[in-house]
Amino acid sequence: MRYGEGLLEEVRRRTDLVALLGRRVKLVRKGRVMWGCCPFHPEKSPSFKVENERRLYKCFGCGQGGDCFKWLMETEGMAFPEAVEKLAAEAGVELPKWSPEDEARESRKKSLYEIIELAAQFYHDQLFADGGRPARDYLKGRGLDGTAAKQFRLGYAPPGNNALIDHLTAHNITQDDMIEAGLARPAQDGRPMRDFFFDRIMFPITDGRGRTIAFGGRGMAPDAKPKYINTGETPLFSKGSQLYNFQTARAAAIKAGTIILAEGYMDVIALVRAGFAHAVAPLGTAFTEDQLQMLWRSAPEPVLAFDGDDAGRKAALRAAHMALPHLKAGHSLRFAFLPQGEDPDTLIAHQGAGAMAGLIDLAMPLSELLWRNETEGKDFSTPERLAGLEHALREIAQQVGDPQIGAYYRDAFKEKVFATYKRRAAPVPGRSPRGEPSRGGYGRTRFTPRPLPGTPEALSAAVRQSRLVQAGGAAARQVKEAELAGLLWEDPQIALNHAEMLAELPVADPSLDRLRAELLNLAASGSSLEKAGVHTHFARLGLAEFVARLAPRTHLPDGGPQEAGTAEDDPEARFLRAAQDLRELADGPSEHNRLLGSRKARHDGDLRR
Ligand code: UTP
Ligand code: MN
Repeated sequence: MRYGEGLLEEVRRRTDLVALLGRRVKLVRKGRVMWGCCPFHPEKSPSFKVENERRLYKCFGCGQGGDCFKWLMETEGMAFPEAVEKLAAEAGVELPKWSPEDEARESRKKSLYEIIELAAQFYHDQLFADGGRPARDYLKGRGLDGTAAKQFRLGYAPPGNNALIDHLTAHNITQDDMIEAGLARPAQDGRPMRDFFFDRIMFPITDGRGRTIAFGGRGMAPDAKPKYINTGETPLFSKGSQLYNFQTARAAAIKAGTIILAEGYMDVIALVRAGFAHAVAPLGTAFTEDQLQMLWRSAPEPVLAFDGDDAGRKAALRAAHMALPHLKAGHSLRFAFLPQGEDPDTLIAHQGAGAMAGLIDLAMPLSELLWRNETEGKDFSTPERLAGLEHALREIAQQVGDPQIGAYYRDAFKEKVFATYKRRAAPVPGRSPRGEPSRGGYGRTRFTPRPLPGTPEALSAAVRQSRLVQAGGAAARQVKEAELAGLLWEDPQIALNHAEMLAELPVADPSLDRLRAELLNLAASGSSLEKAGVHTHFARLGLAEFVARLAPRTHLPDGGPQEAGTAEDDPEARFLRAAQDLRELADGPSEHNRLLGSRKARHDGDLRR
């Protein structure tokens, strides 16, 4: 490491840890120790301890702990040398330059920062100057006003070849420096040196400390080619190890508990403006390992938001496979897929922040993405295919670097294969394979007794078997299933509250079956099943339409006048009732229920649950 332990100790000694942590955590003194609520996990009573004497902090709830450097790395996402530099500067400790070349490079960097800062200010001013009107109009057309432009310090690179060069020349910046900062292209093939960016909307890119180090520039024409250009590699900027909006997002990520990776600049801006301050994007390259580590320093399970198209799916898989070797305890990724044709920017514009929040909420775990990629739309009905699947899943688990996590992946995949493809052959008692119509109540809570031969119950069972009744029953079931689909669509939370019962429901209609399977999947992956998010999710799967078809009565009040004014107008109660009706249609009502009439029977059924 570049800094010796003696020097680090000096910085620790001179840093007031209580004051430093006190900027983020409210601390209360108890004796020689300060206590507060841990910023790394949600809690109501303080288990987070800070000791100036020992120069350490520690949470007894989640185990997070360390020194002042670790604190900045964890809460600000800084790399170690960055944290040392910052605290050393604050504490007035002079860090040694290790060689004259280093020193030269450092002072060179310093001047590059200054040059880029000049450029950022120039572009920003140009946006608000007379010549900036087309750029302002463009931004307005995309829903961004002056406030937004200031918030993100957006700018405008004027047309022509020399606008910035002239400005920088007037500030005594040399041509070599302009080129090295990535702001000008060198003279070439008889053409003089010229501005790197012209006639583009400018997005300044900052580093972890908020210093501008590079730019992205968007052409305003709909067919601009290339649509975006970005500063090339410079001493200050390396695309693969920076993220757009990282500095502000990592602070927000601590509060939000997660961080969102979108694909583009405009997505980040839309997300932040919709209340997702914890949004970042890569800079025109595929998501890198460095960027993954940056995300992980900010949140344990970053959410990667990809477009719902093929390219988005591929990008998600690339990211998933890239992450596998680096997984560590408590650190993973989740994936949110946007509806076809939308990105976060357009989704928020079309459907609002709620839809976005829902999608993020519903983001699928890494293991689920990999599972779906291997299985969705595929048929494993032969032993050879099933063996092939198991092989592919084993290979995925093998890519996991951490042996413990790798073992969990293997186990989880094994269980999934069993539950999905093997249960049919060997049903587990009390459970029917999901997705297959099952007859006869649901396992343990089944309450329809088998009729004894020769009794009126047995007779009515025989009548139910007759084709006439069955035909009538089929139509009635269809109506019930449509009603159930409608209620689940209107209030997906029901699936969460009654997952087990829903799983066992005898469903004939393949569409309702699919809806059920998806909802249970979402519920199993820990999603909240918030309505807007669920709808977006289904739209992406192309299922919105069938639900509309399946449940034409969704918005109509259920039943006739006798229903009015009862507590059962509540969708959940209606769902339970319809579910019971459906079971009865499939299985036959108990004679007791049939005799008492449906109203009473329903109440009994509900109570027994
Ligand atoms: P998108 O084309 O999805 O960008 O590219 P976007 O943010 O939605 O752009 P708008 O909404 O059309 O303005 C995603 C990201 O890929 C990089 C940029 O960083 C962009 O934000 N990109 C894209 C390039 O670097 N060059 C390109 O030509 C296009
Ligand atoms: Mn876009």
